[in-house]
Amino acid sequence: MTWLITGGAGYIGAHVVRAMTGAGERTVVYDDLSTGVPDRVPDGVPLVVGSTLDGERVARALRDHEITGVVHLAAKKQVAESLSLPLHYYRENVEGLRVLLDAVTSAGVRSFVLSSSAAVYGMPDVNLVTEETPCAPLSPYGETKLAGEWLVRAAGTATGLSTACLRYFNVAGAARPDLADRGVSNLIPMIFERLADGLPPRVFGDDYPTPDGTCVRDYIHVVDLAEAHVAAAHALASVPGRNLTVNIGRGEGVSVREMIDRVNALTGHDRPPVITARRPGDPARVVASADRAAAELNWKAHLGLDDMITSAWSGRQRTLPDAHRRRTRPGHGD
Ligand code: WQD
Repeated sequence: MTWLITGGAGYIGAHVVRAMTGAGERTVVYDDLSTGVPDRVPDGVPLVVGSTLDGERVARALRDHEITGVVHLAAKKQVAESLSLPLHYYRENVEGLRVLLDAVTSAGVRSFVLSSSAAVYGMPDVNLVTEETPCAPLSPYGETKLAGEWLVRAAGTATGLSTACLRYFNVAGAARPDLADRGVSNLIPMIFERLADGLPPRVFGDDYPTPDGTCVRDYIHVVDLAEAHVAAAHALASVPGRNLTVNIGRGEGVSVREMIDRVNALTGHDRPPVITARRPGDPARVVASADRAAAELNWKAHLGLDDMITSAWSGRQRTLPDAHRRRTRPGHGD
């Protein structure tokens, strides 16, 4: 098959492209380069620069490259930003997907894999989140991911398009330093940033009802996550008309405090964290049940926390000159 990977020049997309080509699939990247970078697209993989809101451009890419499957990762993904720019998020993530699906269902594409998120669950009050746990997103970002799932399922039911919605838990790590996440909006990169600036990592609240009082999450290596897309692509190809919704996590909880201790140990630091106020809207615990992924996709994660931290740290080292520049910027740090 030939797969169009939207958002394939992004952090997760670049890993998905490599996993798919590694599995012998042909891939084409479709990316508007708003946050993606062309350097991440491997040699030999065509890059079409365009927005998923541009239906004609999408339709032409599907036709020109004889696309038979789509993995859709192009989206806005900052929870905090979505609270101040909700309409922008709905336009990019929901309208962009609707336009894409319109083109996809007219073009004879057989399979569609959607990048969804554990953010659809909101504040789940369970030990392990299953796909049956009620969805109650707490941010426009989470809402757009849930609405996206509805669109994909509805299009699949109406047209026979085989679909899989993959609900990612907390993604970290990199296959290679140059493929690392360049953003600083999640826990591991934020710990790195503080250490690089000579500051103690921050714990946003230590009075949660968890064993050490800090929030617990299910961290998954981006290389494992990318392999889950290959597994989903194969699961869809073997059963036409399929409609899957699957958690992609390790099923293992790690607290903020445990993460900071491990980062300190693996990067040669010895900086005890400071406790600051809770970040509004943070659930105490979000850990996946990985059972359905094992049963339906025959997939499970293999890489652990140390691989995530050390590979992300190697990526961070590449940008150290930047970090030094930032450190001397007036007014930086709090
Ligand atoms: C993890 C924990 C923080 C920084 C979000 C989205 C999710 C997905 C991943 C999408 C929380 C705590 C953080 C720090 C801290 N996004 N923390 N000190 O909020 O679980 O998930 O990102 O694509 O959909 O909701 O991830 O990495 O921001 O935070 O204590 O310096 O670390 O409060 O408990 P989160 P995160």
